[in-house]
Amino acid sequence: MADTYDFGLVGLGVMGRNFILNVADNGFTAYGNDLDEEKVNALISEGGDTSKVNASTDAKTFVAALSTPRKIMLLVPAGKVVDIVIESLLPHLDQGDIIIDGGNSFFTDTDRREAYLKEKGINFFGAGVSGGAKGARKGPSIMPGGSREAYQYVKPVFEAVSAKYKGEPCVAYLGPKSAGNYVKMVHNGIEYGLMQLTSEIYDLLKKAGGLDNETLHQTFASWNAGRLQSFLVEITSQIFAQKDDLGDGHLVDKILDKAKQKGTGKWTSQNAMDLGIPVPTIDIAVSMREISALKNERLEADKIYDRPTPESVVKDSLVGKAEQALYFSFIMTYAQGMHQLADASNEYGYELQLGEIAKIWRAGCIIRAALLADITEAFQADAGLRNLLLSPSFVPKVKETVGAARELVAYGATNGIPLPGLSNALTYFDAYTSGRLPLNLIQAQRDYFGSHTYERLDQEGIFHTEWED
Ligand code: 6PG
Repeated sequence: MADTYDFGLVGLGVMGRNFILNVADNGFTAYGNDLDEEKVNALISEGGDTSKVNASTDAKTFVAALSTPRKIMLLVPAGKVVDIVIESLLPHLDQGDIIIDGGNSFFTDTDRREAYLKEKGINFFGAGVSGGAKGARKGPSIMPGGSREAYQYVKPVFEAVSAKYKGEPCVAYLGPKSAGNYVKMVHNGIEYGLMQLTSEIYDLLKKAGGLDNETLHQTFASWNAGRLQSFLVEITSQIFAQKDDLGDGHLVDKILDKAKQKGTGKWTSQNAMDLGIPVPTIDIAVSMREISALKNERLEADKIYDRPTPESVVKDSLVGKAEQALYFSFIMTYAQGMHQLADASNEYGYELQLGEIAKIWRAGCIIRAALLADITEAFQADAGLRNLLLSPSFVPKVKETVGAARELVAYGATNGIPLPGLSNALTYFDAYTSGRLPLNLIQAQRDYFGSHTYERLDQEGIFHTEWED
């Protein structure tokens, strides 16, 4: 039947199919579109009742089935495919229709598409969707950016399908243009940081504390019942319990130690560099995936260089310190990501409300964590907060845990266990909280060899010295 479906979705892969079924579960009628007939048929049979969920391989039939203004979400791979799908829809659309890109598109692509479609009277949203396949089905965190006026048409669907934190939907209008994709990109940068830190703590517990998989499972599970409660700590605990179905032992021990990436962490890092915002824990998380990819070279180098045998430690005390260090470094990672968002908001005119962002990250998304409730409160108490480290509610949390981070970083360095994320988090803290850094010397060097000038502590103005050879 034409014109009757509330919501359209292009791209019926796992994410798309799950999202559209979620839309239907929440009382909206939904229509899917995919070039792959098998996927179309699979959705129709899973949807059960075609008056509620239907699909077609044909773009014209798909568009005609939707009520106006049409709300069409794309869940297709980021990049060229998004442009191709937009072009295939355009001839059939009317002014005022809305296209929502739910993929991990690069934010400048979203700006380009938004401007292009605006000329044609079409509203374009870049909406980050986090939570993986399960999240799409049961409730993701959704990060939409685009036209505020057009958001009213999308809002009821998004609020219904999103995850809920104590009844509050994990979706909010974030800002104009590419605000949604930008926020999702930084979400992923934080995700990279948290994952890297978790893997380092695992390494430390295993090598220094001799914890086996069963104990690691219990340790992470008990941490997940405390202040470290988070999706990533929860799944980490479950990973250690997973037996290998292709052989003996635990699956985690059989997995090749080369981490892949699709680019969003790297973009976060690259853009932070462009903005001049330090996000060292995210940077190193990207670099570690790159080092991990050099498996053959690592194996070769491993044979050349000796490594100290880790000194034995008291297991219980190690586990306690590891919990504190992980908590400390998680805070540093969120602090860096939020700082990047604050500056990007000024640079790109997003008008981001950091409290709103932390709020919609409290459930549904990959970086959801108990900490995000505290982060939300910190930004609600002070919307202009420059850095979480300056929030009165975070000061005691950091003071209480930094000592453990210091001890473990020192232990890792002496015993040859690489803890780059943790040490970068600590260095970030030490540098950010140092009123005086030695970069006066860098200024002197720059002036010495290049007459680049310097400023002084005791006088206003720009100075240059003819340094003596
Ligand atoms: C999410 C995730 C997701 C991301 C994967 C893979 O929020 O659901 O961030 O969008 O694509 O985590 O990312 P990498 O392949 O780069 O690790």
